[in-house]
Amino acid sequence: MTDSSATALPTRASALAVAFDKELAVVRESRSAAAVDELRVGYLGRKGKVTALLEDLRHCTKEERPAAGRSINELKQHVEAAIQQLKSEAQEWELSNRLHAEPLDISLPVTASVPQGSLHPVTLIRRELLTEFRRLGFTVFDGPEVDYDFYNFSALNMPSDHPARDMQDTFYLREQEHLLLRTHTSNIQIHCMLNERPPLRVVAPGRVFRVDSDPTHTPMFHQIEAFVVDRGVTFAHMKGVIDAFMKAVFGSSMKTRLRPSFFPFVEPGAELDLQCVQCQGKGCRLCKQTGWLEVGGCGMIHPNVFEAVDYDSDIYSGFAFGFGIDRMAMLKYKLDDLRQLFEGNHSFLGHFPLFT
Ligand code: DAH
Repeated sequence: MTDSSATALPTRASALAVAFDKELAVVRESRSAAAVDELRVGYLGRKGKVTALLEDLRHCTKEERPAAGRSINELKQHVEAAIQQLKSEAQEWELSNRLHAEPLDISLPVTASVPQGSLHPVTLIRRELLTEFRRLGFTVFDGPEVDYDFYNFSALNMPSDHPARDMQDTFYLREQEHLLLRTHTSNIQIHCMLNERPPLRVVAPGRVFRVDSDPTHTPMFHQIEAFVVDRGVTFAHMKGVIDAFMKAVFGSSMKTRLRPSFFPFVEPGAELDLQCVQCQGKGCRLCKQTGWLEVGGCGMIHPNVFEAVDYDSDIYSGFAFGFGIDRMAMLKYKLDDLRQLFEGNHSFLGHFPLFT
Protein backbone atom coordinates (compact mmCIF):
# COMPACT_ATOMS: atom_id res chain seq x y z
CA MET A 1 0.00 0.00 0.00
CA THR A 2 1.24 3.43 -0.95
CA ASP A 3 0.48 6.78 0.54
CA SER A 4 -2.51 6.86 -1.80
CA SER A 5 -3.82 3.99 0.18
CA ALA A 6 -7.07 2.37 -0.82
CA THR A 7 -8.72 3.35 2.42
CA ALA A 8 -8.27 7.02 1.52
CA LEU A 9 -10.04 6.70 -1.84
CA PRO A 10 -13.30 8.50 -0.93
CA THR A 11 -11.29 11.32 0.64
CA ARG A 12 -9.05 11.53 -2.43
CA ALA A 13 -12.12 11.57 -4.67
CA SER A 14 -13.66 14.52 -2.87
CA ALA A 15 -10.30 16.37 -2.81
CA LEU A 16 -9.99 15.76 -6.53
CA ALA A 17 -13.51 17.13 -7.06
CA VAL A 18 -12.48 20.36 -5.33
CA ALA A 19 -9.29 20.58 -7.41
CA PHE A 20 -11.25 19.92 -10.57
CA ASP A 21 -13.75 22.66 -9.82
CA LYS A 22 -10.89 25.16 -9.38
CA GLU A 23 -9.29 24.17 -12.68
CA LEU A 24 -12.71 24.29 -14.31
CA ALA A 25 -13.12 27.92 -13.26
CA VAL A 26 -9.69 28.82 -14.69
CA VAL A 27 -10.49 27.12 -18.01
CA ARG A 28 -13.82 28.87 -18.24
CA GLU A 29 -12.02 32.15 -17.62
CA SER A 30 -9.55 31.40 -20.43
CA ARG A 31 -12.33 30.84 -22.98
CA SER A 32 -10.03 28.48 -24.80
CA ALA A 33 -11.26 25.30 -26.48
CA ALA A 34 -7.75 23.84 -26.26
CA ALA A 35 -7.75 24.29 -22.48
CA VAL A 36 -11.05 22.38 -22.28
CA ASP A 37 -9.46 19.49 -24.08
CA GLU A 38 -6.40 19.56 -21.81
CA LEU A 39 -8.65 19.47 -18.77
CA ARG A 40 -10.52 16.49 -20.18
CA VAL A 41 -7.34 14.54 -20.89
CA GLY A 42 -5.90 15.48 -17.47
CA TYR A 43 -8.88 13.95 -15.66
CA LEU A 44 -10.52 11.39 -17.93
CA GLY A 45 -7.68 10.43 -20.29
CA ARG A 46 -5.75 7.16 -20.08
CA LYS A 47 -3.32 8.67 -17.58
CA GLY A 48 -5.88 11.06 -16.11
CA LYS A 49 -6.47 11.64 -12.43
CA VAL A 50 -9.93 10.04 -12.32
CA THR A 51 -8.66 7.07 -14.29
CA ALA A 52 -5.83 6.67 -11.76
CA LEU A 53 -8.31 6.60 -8.89
CA LEU A 54 -10.35 3.94 -10.68
CA GLU A 55 -7.24 1.84 -11.05
CA ASP A 56 -6.52 2.18 -7.34
CA LEU A 57 -9.86 0.50 -6.62
CA ARG A 58 -8.07 -2.75 -7.30
CA HIS A 59 -6.10 -2.30 -4.09
CA CYS A 60 -9.20 -1.97 -1.92
CA THR A 61 -10.50 -4.69 0.30
CA LYS A 62 -13.82 -6.25 -0.59
CA GLU A 63 -15.50 -4.29 2.21
CA GLU A 64 -14.08 -0.93 1.20
CA ARG A 65 -14.78 -1.32 -2.52
CA PRO A 66 -18.49 -0.38 -2.70
CA ALA A 67 -18.09 2.94 -0.88
CA ALA A 68 -14.87 3.79 -2.73
CA GLY A 69 -16.38 2.82 -6.09
CA ARG A 70 -19.44 4.95 -5.44
CA SER A 71 -17.40 8.03 -4.55
CA ILE A 72 -15.17 7.70 -7.63
CA ASN A 73 -18.18 7.16 -9.87
CA GLU A 74 -19.81 10.30 -8.54
CA LEU A 75 -16.62 12.21 -9.21
CA LYS A 76 -16.39 10.79 -12.72
CA GLN A 77 -19.97 11.74 -13.54
CA HIS A 78 -19.43 15.24 -12.18
CA VAL A 79 -16.27 15.69 -14.28
CA GLU A 80 -17.88 14.27 -17.44
CA ALA A 81 -20.96 16.46 -17.13
CA ALA A 82 -18.88 19.59 -16.47
CA ILE A 83 -16.64 18.92 -19.45
CA GLN A 84 -19.61 18.28 -21.72
CA GLN A 85 -21.06 21.61 -20.67
CA LEU A 86 -17.70 23.37 -21.23
CA LYS A 87 -17.44 21.90 -24.72
CA SER A 88 -20.69 23.48 -25.81
CA GLU A 89 -19.68 26.78 -24.23
CA ALA A 90 -16.37 26.51 -26.11
CA GLN A 91 -18.17 26.58 -29.47
CA GLU A 92 -19.58 29.99 -28.62
CA TRP A 93 -16.19 31.23 -27.39
CA GLU A 94 -14.67 30.22 -30.70
CA LEU A 95 -17.25 32.19 -32.65
CA SER A 96 -17.00 35.33 -30.57
CA ASN A 97 -13.17 35.09 -30.48
CA ARG A 98 -13.19 34.99 -34.27
CA LEU A 99 -15.59 37.93 -34.52
CA HIS A 100 -13.35 39.97 -32.25
CA ALA A 101 -10.16 38.92 -33.97
CA GLU A 102 -11.50 39.79 -37.46
CA PRO A 103 -13.97 42.66 -37.01
CA LEU A 104 -16.44 43.05 -39.87
CA ASP A 105 -16.23 46.33 -41.73
CA ILE A 106 -19.90 46.95 -42.49
CA SER A 107 -19.04 50.26 -44.13
CA LEU A 108 -17.37 48.50 -47.07
CA PRO A 109 -19.24 49.18 -50.32
CA VAL A 110 -21.19 46.26 -51.79
CA THR A 111 -19.47 44.83 -54.85
CA ALA A 112 -20.78 46.12 -58.16
CA SER A 113 -21.90 42.64 -59.22
CA VAL A 114 -24.83 42.72 -56.77
CA PRO A 115 -27.96 43.63 -58.79
CA GLN A 116 -29.30 47.02 -57.76
CA GLY A 117 -32.91 46.76 -58.95
CA SER A 118 -34.93 49.68 -60.25
CA LEU A 119 -38.40 51.09 -60.06
CA HIS A 120 -40.91 49.74 -62.53
CA PRO A 121 -41.72 52.20 -65.35
CA VAL A 122 -45.39 52.17 -64.31
CA THR A 123 -44.36 53.11 -60.75
CA LEU A 124 -42.18 55.90 -62.09
CA ILE A 125 -44.90 57.39 -64.24
CA ARG A 126 -47.56 56.99 -61.53
CA ARG A 127 -45.37 58.87 -59.04
CA GLU A 128 -44.78 61.60 -61.57
CA LEU A 129 -48.48 61.93 -62.39
CA LEU A 130 -49.43 62.06 -58.71
CA THR A 131 -46.81 64.72 -58.03
CA GLU A 132 -48.37 66.92 -60.73
CA PHE A 133 -51.89 66.28 -59.43
CA ARG A 134 -50.86 67.19 -55.90
CA ARG A 135 -49.35 70.38 -57.23
CA LEU A 136 -52.77 71.21 -58.71
CA GLY A 137 -54.38 70.68 -55.29
CA PHE A 138 -55.73 67.14 -55.74
CA THR A 139 -55.92 64.59 -52.91
CA VAL A 140 -55.06 60.92 -53.54
CA PHE A 141 -57.91 58.49 -52.86
CA ASP A 142 -57.83 54.68 -53.00
CA GLY A 143 -60.56 52.18 -53.77
CA PRO A 144 -61.06 48.41 -54.02
CA GLU A 145 -59.96 46.29 -56.99
CA VAL A 146 -62.59 43.68 -56.14
CA ASP A 147 -65.86 45.54 -56.12
CA TYR A 148 -69.63 45.32 -56.47
CA ASP A 149 -71.50 45.95 -59.66
CA PHE A 150 -73.13 48.95 -57.95
CA TYR A 151 -69.87 50.93 -57.69
CA ASN A 152 -68.36 49.80 -60.97
CA PHE A 153 -71.48 50.07 -63.12
CA SER A 154 -74.94 50.97 -61.88
CA ALA A 155 -74.10 54.00 -59.75
CA LEU A 156 -72.09 55.24 -62.74
CA ASN A 157 -75.27 55.36 -64.80
CA MET A 158 -74.53 52.13 -66.62
CA PRO A 159 -77.83 50.37 -67.13
CA SER A 160 -77.87 46.59 -66.88
CA ASP A 161 -77.93 46.18 -70.69
CA HIS A 162 -74.76 48.26 -71.17
CA PRO A 163 -72.15 46.34 -73.25
CA ALA A 164 -69.41 47.01 -70.67
CA ARG A 165 -71.21 44.58 -68.38
CA ASP A 166 -70.90 41.83 -70.93
CA MET A 167 -69.01 38.72 -69.74
CA GLN A 168 -66.61 39.40 -72.64
CA ASP A 169 -65.17 42.42 -70.86
CA THR A 170 -65.66 41.87 -67.17
CA PHE A 171 -64.10 39.31 -64.86
CA TYR A 172 -66.96 38.26 -62.60
CA LEU A 173 -65.95 36.65 -59.32
CA ARG A 174 -69.37 35.71 -58.00
CA GLU A 175 -71.95 36.80 -60.47
CA GLN A 176 -74.96 36.10 -58.25
CA GLU A 177 -73.47 38.40 -55.64
CA HIS A 178 -72.58 41.01 -58.29
CA LEU A 179 -68.91 40.79 -57.27
CA LEU A 180 -66.33 41.56 -59.94
CA LEU A 181 -62.84 42.87 -60.70
CA ARG A 182 -63.26 46.56 -61.42
CA THR A 183 -63.02 47.41 -65.10
CA HIS A 184 -61.98 51.02 -64.48
CA THR A 185 -60.93 53.37 -61.68
CA SER A 186 -64.20 55.32 -62.06
CA ASN A 187 -65.59 53.13 -59.25
CA ILE A 188 -63.53 55.29 -56.88
CA GLN A 189 -65.75 58.28 -57.76
CA ILE A 190 -68.66 56.46 -56.12
CA HIS A 191 -66.73 55.22 -53.07
CA CYS A 192 -65.31 58.68 -52.51
CA MET A 193 -68.52 60.64 -53.05
CA LEU A 194 -70.45 58.34 -50.71
CA ASN A 195 -67.88 58.99 -47.98
CA GLU A 196 -67.07 62.66 -48.46
CA ARG A 197 -68.94 65.87 -49.13
CA PRO A 198 -68.02 68.50 -51.74
CA PRO A 199 -65.83 70.36 -52.48
CA LEU A 200 -63.75 67.46 -53.82
CA ARG A 201 -60.54 67.47 -55.81
CA VAL A 202 -59.53 63.83 -56.01
CA VAL A 203 -57.09 61.68 -57.95
CA ALA A 204 -57.21 57.89 -57.81
CA PRO A 205 -54.67 55.61 -59.50
CA GLY A 206 -55.04 51.84 -59.58
CA ARG A 207 -55.11 48.45 -61.29
CA VAL A 208 -58.08 47.56 -63.47
CA PHE A 209 -59.07 44.33 -65.23
CA ARG A 210 -60.71 43.37 -68.50
CA VAL A 211 -60.96 40.18 -70.54
CA ASP A 212 -58.63 41.37 -73.29
CA SER A 213 -55.14 40.53 -74.59
CA ASP A 214 -53.16 41.75 -77.64
CA PRO A 215 -50.12 44.04 -78.26
CA THR A 216 -51.99 47.07 -76.95
CA HIS A 217 -54.22 45.38 -74.33
CA THR A 218 -53.42 43.28 -71.27
CA PRO A 219 -56.03 41.69 -68.94
CA MET A 220 -54.65 43.84 -66.12
CA PHE A 221 -53.64 47.44 -66.66
CA HIS A 222 -53.42 50.73 -64.78
CA GLN A 223 -55.62 53.78 -64.87
CA ILE A 224 -55.76 57.08 -63.10
CA GLU A 225 -59.03 58.84 -62.42
CA ALA A 226 -59.41 62.48 -61.45
CA PHE A 227 -62.54 64.38 -60.53
CA VAL A 228 -63.62 67.69 -59.12
CA VAL A 229 -66.99 68.44 -57.52
CA ASP A 230 -67.97 71.87 -56.28
CA ARG A 231 -70.41 74.70 -56.93
CA GLY A 232 -69.98 76.24 -60.35
CA VAL A 233 -67.52 73.76 -61.87
CA THR A 234 -67.55 74.04 -65.68
CA PHE A 235 -66.26 72.28 -68.77
CA ALA A 236 -63.73 75.11 -69.15
CA HIS A 237 -62.25 74.25 -65.74
CA MET A 238 -61.84 70.68 -66.90
CA LYS A 239 -60.14 71.68 -70.14
CA GLY A 240 -57.78 73.97 -68.22
CA VAL A 241 -56.82 71.29 -65.69
CA ILE A 242 -56.23 68.63 -68.37
CA ASP A 243 -54.12 70.99 -70.45
CA ALA A 244 -52.03 72.18 -67.48
CA PHE A 245 -51.55 68.63 -66.34
CA MET A 246 -50.38 67.25 -69.69
CA LYS A 247 -48.02 70.19 -70.18
CA ALA A 248 -46.52 69.50 -66.74
CA VAL A 249 -45.90 65.85 -67.60
CA PHE A 250 -44.88 66.08 -71.26
CA GLY A 251 -43.46 69.58 -71.52
CA SER A 252 -44.94 73.02 -72.16
CA SER A 253 -45.31 72.50 -75.92
CA MET A 254 -47.70 69.56 -75.42
CA LYS A 255 -51.14 70.12 -76.93
CA THR A 256 -54.37 68.37 -75.91
CA ARG A 257 -57.62 67.95 -77.81
CA LEU A 258 -61.14 66.94 -76.78
CA ARG A 259 -63.51 65.18 -79.19
CA PRO A 260 -67.21 64.70 -78.39
CA SER A 261 -67.86 61.15 -77.25
CA PHE A 262 -70.17 59.05 -75.10
CA PHE A 263 -69.52 57.69 -71.62
CA PRO A 264 -72.62 56.87 -69.57
CA PHE A 265 -71.36 58.62 -66.42
CA VAL A 266 -70.67 62.01 -68.02
CA GLU A 267 -72.67 64.52 -70.04
CA PRO A 268 -71.28 66.04 -72.15
CA GLY A 269 -68.49 63.51 -72.59
CA ALA A 270 -65.30 63.69 -74.63
CA GLU A 271 -62.40 61.62 -75.83
CA LEU A 272 -59.07 63.01 -74.64
CA ASP A 273 -56.25 63.16 -77.23
CA LEU A 274 -52.60 64.14 -76.87
CA GLN A 275 -50.53 65.53 -79.67
CA CYS A 276 -48.39 62.66 -80.96
CA VAL A 277 -45.19 62.46 -78.91
CA GLN A 278 -43.32 60.88 -81.84
CA CYS A 279 -44.01 63.35 -84.67
CA GLN A 280 -45.30 66.39 -82.72
CA GLY A 281 -48.52 66.38 -84.72
CA LYS A 282 -47.07 65.97 -88.22
CA GLY A 283 -48.40 62.46 -88.67
CA CYS A 284 -46.51 59.16 -88.31
CA ARG A 285 -47.03 55.42 -87.86
CA LEU A 286 -47.61 55.68 -84.11
CA CYS A 287 -50.52 58.12 -84.51
CA LYS A 288 -51.71 56.48 -87.76
CA GLN A 289 -50.98 59.76 -89.59
CA THR A 290 -53.55 61.66 -87.52
CA GLY A 291 -51.06 63.65 -85.40
CA TRP A 292 -53.02 62.72 -82.25
CA LEU A 293 -53.02 59.88 -79.72
CA GLU A 294 -56.08 58.85 -77.77
CA VAL A 295 -55.29 58.55 -74.06
CA GLY A 296 -58.56 58.69 -72.11
CA GLY A 297 -62.02 60.03 -71.56
CA CYS A 298 -63.54 62.95 -69.72
CA GLY A 299 -66.70 64.93 -69.19
CA MET A 300 -69.10 66.63 -66.80
CA ILE A 301 -70.36 64.23 -64.12
CA HIS A 302 -73.88 63.03 -65.07
CA PRO A 303 -76.77 64.11 -62.80
CA ASN A 304 -77.74 60.44 -62.41
CA VAL A 305 -74.33 59.76 -60.82
CA PHE A 306 -74.89 62.59 -58.36
CA GLU A 307 -78.30 61.15 -57.62
CA ALA A 308 -76.79 57.72 -56.87
CA VAL A 309 -74.54 59.27 -54.21
CA ASP A 310 -77.19 61.68 -52.96
CA TYR A 311 -75.54 64.92 -54.11
CA ASP A 312 -77.89 67.69 -55.25
CA SER A 313 -77.09 68.33 -58.92
CA ASP A 314 -78.90 71.66 -58.75
CA ILE A 315 -76.21 72.83 -56.35
CA TYR A 316 -73.13 70.90 -57.41
CA SER A 317 -71.46 70.22 -60.70
CA GLY A 318 -68.24 68.44 -61.45
CA PHE A 319 -65.96 66.97 -64.05
CA ALA A 320 -64.14 63.65 -64.26
CA PHE A 321 -61.43 62.26 -66.46
CA GLY A 322 -59.63 58.97 -66.64
CA PHE A 323 -56.74 57.64 -68.66
CA GLY A 324 -54.35 54.70 -68.87
CA ILE A 325 -51.11 54.99 -66.90
CA ASP A 326 -49.46 52.24 -68.96
CA ARG A 327 -50.25 54.12 -72.13
CA MET A 328 -48.63 57.20 -70.62
CA ALA A 329 -45.54 55.13 -69.77
CA MET A 330 -45.45 53.83 -73.35
CA LEU A 331 -45.60 57.36 -74.73
CA LYS A 332 -43.11 58.80 -72.28
CA TYR A 333 -40.56 55.97 -72.63
CA LYS A 334 -41.35 55.28 -76.31
CA LEU A 335 -42.28 51.61 -75.85
CA ASP A 336 -43.91 49.71 -78.68
CA ASP A 337 -45.52 46.76 -76.87
CA LEU A 338 -47.64 47.20 -73.75
CA ARG A 339 -46.99 43.60 -72.70
CA GLN A 340 -43.31 44.40 -72.10
CA LEU A 341 -44.43 46.21 -68.98
CA PHE A 342 -45.82 43.08 -67.36
CA GLU A 343 -43.45 40.30 -68.44
CA GLY A 344 -41.00 40.82 -65.56
CA ASN A 345 -38.00 40.79 -67.91
CA HIS A 346 -35.06 42.20 -65.94
CA SER A 347 -32.99 43.28 -68.93
CA PHE A 348 -35.92 45.43 -70.05
CA LEU A 349 -36.86 46.74 -66.61
CA GLY A 350 -33.21 47.49 -65.74
CA HIS A 351 -33.20 50.37 -68.26
CA PHE A 352 -35.25 52.59 -66.01
CA PRO A 353 -33.73 54.93 -63.45
CA LEU A 354 -33.22 53.57 -59.94
CA PHE A 355 -34.73 56.50 -58.10
CA THR A 356 -36.38 59.71 -59.15
N1 DAH B 1 -63.73 54.87 -67.10
C1 DAH B 1 -63.51 55.07 -68.52
C2 DAH B 1 -62.89 53.83 -69.12
O1 DAH B 1 -62.25 53.10 -68.43
C3 DAH B 1 -62.61 56.25 -68.74
C4 DAH B 1 -63.30 57.52 -68.43
C5 DAH B 1 -64.04 58.17 -69.37
C6 DAH B 1 -63.19 58.08 -67.18
C7 DAH B 1 -64.70 59.36 -69.11
C8 DAH B 1 -63.83 59.27 -66.88
C9 DAH B 1 -64.59 59.90 -67.86
O2 DAH B 1 -63.75 59.84 -65.67
O3 DAH B 1 -65.17 61.08 -67.58
O4 DAH B 1 -63.02 53.62 -70.28
